[in-house]
Amino acid sequence: MTRHGSSSRVIAVANLKGGVGKTTTVLNLAGFAGQIGKRVLAVDTDPQGSLTRVALPDDGPTASLTEAFARRAQSLDGVRCPSRFAGVDLVPSSLALEAVSSRLFRGRDVSMSCSTCSRPILPSTTLS
Ligand SMILES: Nc1ncnc2c1ncn2[C@@H]1O[C@H](COP(=O)(O)OP(=O)(O)OP(=O)(O)O)[C@@H](O)[C@H]1O
Ligand SMILES: [Mg+2]
Repeated sequence: MTRHGSSSRVIAVANLKGGVGKTTTVLNLAGFAGQIGKRVLAVDTDPQGSLTRVALPDDGPTASLTEAFARRAQSLDGVRCPSRFAGVDLVPSSLALEAVSSRLFRGRDVSMSCSTCSRPILPSTTLS
């Protein structure tokens, strides 16, 4: 967890092991925080898109985090949308995000990271 300013926090839920409850944890944390009046942005970084399938409304955008990476976006405008849950915005994932992840992990394209797109909302972000 990383603090940004006095009130915002970044919580990353990650584990190499599959099926251990990562998506369920995010859904519950985000949903609860939204219900008690916090403003939440849930960023689905998993190409499987399980969070996206549950949280993206039927009329949600077709653009995803993949497109933000592809166009080297400096913000999440255009891919961020209201989710099905009160107080929770979502940045959807798509299967094509796998290709982006592969490039990042192989160190071929270190110029892009979540911190680049989220800089406008997290000015001093240390995410990468
Ligand atoms: N606290 C819990 N107690 C019992 N079952 C749980 C709990 N949390 C999650 N589950 C169940 O475990 C299964 C896997 O959960 P989930 O999809 O959240 O895991 P994941 O780590 O996101 O999986 P993946 O690696 O495939 O993304 C689901 O069927 C979910 O309902
Ligand atoms: Mg999952």
